[in-house]
Amino acid sequence: MWPRKDLLELLEIDHPIIQAPMGGESTPLMAIAVSNAGALGGLGCSYMSLDELRATTTEIRSGTNRSFNLSFFAHPPPKEDADVNARTKAMVTPFYEELGLAHIPNCGNGDCDPFDAARLEVLLNNCPTVTSFHFGLSPIDMVRALQSAGSVVLCSATTVAEARMLADAGVDAIIAQGWEAGGHRGTFEVSFEDFGVGTMALVPQIVDAVDVPVIAAGGIADGRGIAAAFALGAGGVQMGTAFLSCPEANIDDSYRAALRQASDDETRLTRAYSGRPARARNNRYIDAMASHRVALPDFPTMYGFADPLAQASRDNGDAELDFVLYGQAAPLNRELPAADLVARLVDEAQSLLNTPRGT
Ligand SMILES: Cc1cc2nc3c(=O)[nH]c(=O)nc-3n(C[C@H](O)[C@H](O)[C@H](O)COP(=O)(O)O)c2cc1C
Repeated sequence: MWPRKDLLELLEIDHPIIQAPMGGESTPLMAIAVSNAGALGGLGCSYMSLDELRATTTEIRSGTNRSFNLSFFAHPPPKEDADVNARTKAMVTPFYEELGLAHIPNCGNGDCDPFDAARLEVLLNNCPTVTSFHFGLSPIDMVRALQSAGSVVLCSATTVAEARMLADAGVDAIIAQGWEAGGHRGTFEVSFEDFGVGTMALVPQIVDAVDVPVIAAGGIADGRGIAAAFALGAGGVQMGTAFLSCPEANIDDSYRAALRQASDDETRLTRAYSGRPARARNNRYIDAMASHRVALPDFPTMYGFADPLAQASRDNGDAELDFVLYGQAAPLNRELPAADLVARLVDEAQSLLNTPRGT
C-alpha cells in the first residue's frame, strides 16, 4: 500500500502523514481527528502553560487511543540587548502611532519558554507517543528520558549539517523542513532570512546523510507532494499549511479569507514578529522591517514589540500589519474537515504510487 513502512512502524500509524504541530493554530480536535483517521495528529505546545499542557494531553488521550505528537521549541533563552531594544523601538514606533496605540514597549517580553524540566515532568507523567522539537534539540538527557518512557523523538532540520547533528544525538526520525514551509523555520541557528534550501533539494541530501527515517516538510499540500516525497527517499510527510483550512484550525475569518485568496508568490521569510525566521504572508510591516537589515531582539523577545501591532491590526480588520503564517503551497489548500483531508490525501497519493508502470 505504501512504498516503505519504517516510519509507519516507528510511529504506529497507518498513513505516512504527520499533521504539523502548529503553535496557536492546531487544536486538540484537529489532532484527535487526524490521529483517528490513521495519520499522526499533533499540537504545538510551546505557548502553553503547564496547566494547559496537562489539560491538553488529557483531552487528546480521551479522544483517541491512536498515536499523537506534542511539539516544543528548543531555543536558547534570549539575550537582552538594550541597544537592540532601543533601535527596535524606534523602528516600530511609526506603526504604533499609525494605529493610535499609546504604549510603545521599551523592551520586548514575548512569552514562550523553551522545553524545560517542568514540561518534561508533565510529559513523563502522561507520555505522548511522539515528542517533536523545533529550533534544535532539547538537552540530550531530556531526549533520553522521553525515549526511555516510550516516546518517539523527532526534530526538524533545515540543512544536512543539522540533520547529521540530530542523527548523532540519537533522534528517532528527522523532519527535513524545506524553504517553502509555512511558519517558523526549525533552523538551529538564526541564519538570515535570505538563505534556505528547498524541499526538493533538501530531502534526498538528508536521506543520503543519515540512517534514520526522514520526513519531508514544506510545500506539500496534496497527494502529488506525498508521492514526490517518497520518490525523494522520505518515509512520510509533515504538512502544516494544508491543515490550516480545516474547520478544526484555530484561526479567525480574516486568516481563512487570506488562505482562500493566497497566491504562490506572496509569502516571505521574516523575523520581524518573533525574532526567528518564519514564513508568513508579506505585508507593509514585514517589508519595512526587512529594509533595515539589522539585528532584531532574540526569539521570543521580539514578540513583545510586534504582538500589540498584530493584535490591533487584526482587531481593525486590516491584515497589513498582522502575522499571518502560511507556506508557498497555500493555494492548493482544500476546505475539508481534518479526517476528510487525510482520507483525500491518502487516496490521491496511493493512486499515484500504486499506478502500474505503462498505464
Ligand atoms: C501556522 C503554522 C504554525 C506552525 N507552528 C509550528 C510549531 O509550533 N512547531 C513546529 O514544530 N512547527 C510549526 N510549524 C511548521 C511545521 O511544522 C512544518 O514544518 C510546515 O508547516 C511544513 O510546511 P507547509 O506549511 O508548507 O506544510 C508551523 C507551520 C505553520 C503553517
